[in-house]
Amino acid sequence: MPRITVDGQEFEVAEGRTLLQALDDVGVLMNGIDVPHYCWHPKLSIDGSCRLCQVEVEGVPKLQIACNTTVTDGMVVRTDTDRVQQAREGVMELLLVNHPLDCPICDQAGECKLQDYAYEYGVARSRTREPRRALKKNVDLGPTIVFDQERCILCRRCVRFCREVPGTGELVVQGRGDHSVIETFPGVPLDNDYSMNVADICPVGALTTKDFRFKIRVWFLEDVPGVCTGCSKGCNVHLGVANNKVYRYLPRRNDAVNETWICDEGRMGYKRIGAPDRLQRSLVRGELGVPEATGFDAAVQAAAARLDRLRKAPGAGAIAGIASPHATNEDLFVFRRFLGALGAGASGVAVTRGRSDALLIQAEKAANARGAAELGFDDAASLCERIRSGGVEGLVVLGHDILGPDYLGGVGALARVDTVIAIDTHASDLQRVAHVLFPARVAAEKHGTLTNHEGRVQRVEPAVEPAFDARSEGEVLAALGLALGLPGFDGRYDAHEVSKALAQSVPAFAGASLDSVGPGGAPLGGEGGGS
Ligand code: SF4
Ligand code: SF4
Ligand code: FES
Repeated sequence: MPRITVDGQEFEVAEGRTLLQALDDVGVLMNGIDVPHYCWHPKLSIDGSCRLCQVEVEGVPKLQIACNTTVTDGMVVRTDTDRVQQAREGVMELLLVNHPLDCPICDQAGECKLQDYAYEYGVARSRTREPRRALKKNVDLGPTIVFDQERCILCRRCVRFCREVPGTGELVVQGRGDHSVIETFPGVPLDNDYSMNVADICPVGALTTKDFRFKIRVWFLEDVPGVCTGCSKGCNVHLGVANNKVYRYLPRRNDAVNETWICDEGRMGYKRIGAPDRLQRSLVRGELGVPEATGFDAAVQAAAARLDRLRKAPGAGAIAGIASPHATNEDLFVFRRFLGALGAGASGVAVTRGRSDALLIQAEKAANARGAAELGFDDAASLCERIRSGGVEGLVVLGHDILGPDYLGGVGALARVDTVIAIDTHASDLQRVAHVLFPARVAAEKHGTLTNHEGRVQRVEPAVEPAFDARSEGEVLAALGLALGLPGFDGRYDAHEVSKALAQSVPAFAGASLDSVGPGGAPLGGEGGGS
């Protein structure tokens, strides 16, 4: 492997990489060794157009662009000389000749590479008096993105993204020289399953999403690492949080999962966290069959009384459990212990399926279907037959995917079930038939881990606190277990402790507990750590 020296530090890097790729591979790019860049992106082809990444290479008379210079053994590079600084100033000056002085009204301000690099590497004074180029503002590129032509620095990241990632190629550079502008092909809007990634990779405020623009200034947001729960890919995201509210998801780089992308549908998944149809109160069906709001403890007692009656006659074997593929591994582990201690006769998991593609989007529309399978919850299809035929008297159900067309197909199929105890996050028809209903927390409101479809265990943490009394499924089951006097249940639920117990007792989860997986997750049955 070639050894290179950059600013006096030696690195061993992979053969055939360019300087920027090599520095990115070893984790020092803009993280100890600064080589500012606009057109280069780690997951796109090389463009070499912005010229900002110039560096000095020993033995080469002219400055070289680091994004398109292949490393060779013994290469000595300097990124911090006067010549390099002068070149950067020149590039920044040219980029700013026509750039509007829009920062106070630009939605990118605060996370704009033009602002950052102008501050770090540019000059403070402008030498031009001529008016700036006037181009189109507020161009509607399609259902998700608005374009400001004046702010564009023609790095062509967006063009390459559309060609190389979704493969839809809606964007193009139109015109030549200083008449060049980004356009869509006539009559072809920017409209693909990943369109909003162009706003993330646009280094300036030229491309912004209709969803997020002008909602909040980005410096008010705190980035909380999390996982998208839209499908079983488990894409890594940053939740942008302010005032106990999630304003957006942005992709969080994880080369083992989603690289630097997320799909548009998953991106909009943040809206589910604070959605108006979140369940907010525990409900108990009264004597007249009408659901009545009640406190958590009263709901636990009501649920325990119903399950205890069934446990005595016809027996616990007539009780079944439906696991939710949205719950964490820890919640599901408690559920497994709960059903085992109760002596329940059957269990399964219901997973809603939908569209998939070859890039990220998976058919399983839940983040933890794999975790449920690893914990022994088989597909609930056969259990549904048993429910329909009247073989189940009591049902403890997490989530409401069981009502989908692949399973029960609606609440009518539950007509013969004596007792339905539901723990769920959002409203569904289950509310109409559940005898006791507990509001549950979503992944962004609790500690835990989720296992993606490839078997990568990834952690989630509370980004926001619900404004109502919602608890994790594990917490509800812990209280219910205590009320029923089940062995091993003392009413307490601590996701960290449960995760440790899970890692100790289920071999697949060894080394993949909440406290041992890193921010990039860890493979099932792996050594833990993660990146
Ligand atoms: S719109 Fe943004 S990403 Fe596209 S070329 Fe212009 S600056 Fe680059
Ligand atoms: S591919 Fe799946 S996990 Fe990734 S962002 Fe889309 S919905 Fe979320
Ligand atoms: S990043 Fe190297 S030329 Fe643009």
